[in-house]
Amino acid sequence: MGKLLWAGRFLVPETPLLVAQDRDVDHTKSERHQKPMAVNLRASIDMLLSSEFWRMAIRWTLSLLYSRLLLLFRPSPSFPRRRRRLSPDPDSRIERPICVVTGATSGLGAAAARALSGEGYHVVLVGRCPQLLNKMMQGIKHQDKDAYLDAFVVDLSSIRSIVKFESSFKQWLTDSNLHPSVQLLINNAGIFAVSHRVTADGYDKMVETNYIGAFVLTNLLLPLLKNSPVPSRIVNVTSFTHRSVSDIEVDRENLSCLPTSGKYRCAHIYEYSKLCLLLFTYELHRQFYAKDLSADISVNSADPGAVETNIMRELPGCLSQLAFTVLRLLCLLQSPEEGVASVVDAALAPEEVSGKYFFGGKGRTIRSSLLSYDARLATDLWSTSHMLLQESLLSQGGQ
Ligand SMILES: NC(=O)c1ccc[n+]([C@@H]2O[C@H](COP(=O)([O-])OP(=O)(O)OC[C@H]3O[C@@H](n4cnc5c(N)ncnc54)[C@H](OP(=O)(O)O)[C@@H]3O)[C@@H](O)[C@H]2O)c1
Repeated sequence: MGKLLWAGRFLVPETPLLVAQDRDVDHTKSERHQKPMAVNLRASIDMLLSSEFWRMAIRWTLSLLYSRLLLLFRPSPSFPRRRRRLSPDPDSRIERPICVVTGATSGLGAAAARALSGEGYHVVLVGRCPQLLNKMMQGIKHQDKDAYLDAFVVDLSSIRSIVKFESSFKQWLTDSNLHPSVQLLINNAGIFAVSHRVTADGYDKMVETNYIGAFVLTNLLLPLLKNSPVPSRIVNVTSFTHRSVSDIEVDRENLSCLPTSGKYRCAHIYEYSKLCLLLFTYELHRQFYAKDLSADISVNSADPGAVETNIMRELPGCLSQLAFTVLRLLCLLQSPEEGVASVVDAALAPEEVSGKYFFGGKGRTIRSSLLSYDARLATDLWSTSHMLLQESLLSQGGQ
């Protein structure tokens, strides 16, 4: 494990690799602010003239409206929130259930970390920027001085970083004399990228952050989730935009989303990554419940709706503001505190609730797209993702 950064009583494990990536992040952010106006204007015009922009403007709005209509006319069951019970074993080291929230430094992840801390969880914040993690922890502590918080620097677009996290995390549980288990994992981190960037693992950055990172993290944390003396849960944060996908291939080539020719299809790739996350959710649910009808681990997806966060940070500022204004006028835009309701509902629904799509708050669920329930597609996605993960682990072991 790398050296430790102290921040109050919180530990932020830091490795040389992660520091290097964080510098990249800061660099990208500062570059964006320094772009000359002419470049921004050019980027805005290019985006406005692209079919991807109009796909987002029209298809995504229709998908969101459709989800809202389902809530009104074809609602699925609603589920009350229940406080997680602690271990029935008085000798257990579980004083508080542990919850890992990825992308906890902004928007919905930050709101989820705050809400779940308020529900009595020991929240482990996962993010790629140590400064933002510290700021988040201080903010939550300011509101609730008794909050239990820790933070880890992890880049979810790097399998190496996730593997390092798993071992640091296990070591931290041991060093802190905590039960070697996790009660709740919220796979929330995500980006909307407007240009193609290839990660060190050879994937498109948006697909790796939004889907592959969550797949890898979940698989690596599964033993800890299964080891929980109380029922544990996984929540995958997906999006109504998955409804815009009408056909999908989940082979190695498509999963990598490497460019064939022409422009980067940012809207298509975002939708694709969110559909993959849903197929993965339902496949995991099938696997848990095929083995054991009263499985002690459950998995749900959560769709927050349209929320005013930093997700559109790569779009030219005037276009993201325009999108938010239109959504606000249509009464479709929520604050992160409102939007996070479906995530918290999915996390706190009774333990037997699994394989559901939470949307709209108040414990409500709806059906996701027909394609997302395609079991054959989900199995193909699972086996391809697994094969790619094994290959990555093998190649990293050999380095
Ligand atoms: N906002 C919406 O309308 C909406 C709707 C449906 C679904 N969602 C989903 O909700 C989730 C949260 O998004 P948001 O709207 O809250 O956006 P956001 O404000 O941009 O937050 C995204 C979070 O993910 C983190 N992140 C990004 N790349 C990462 C990486 N490689 N490694 C680790 N962390 C990384 C970000 O870290 P930094 O702070 O360091 O950038 C940030 O904490 C996403 O999965 C998104 O797809 C959002």
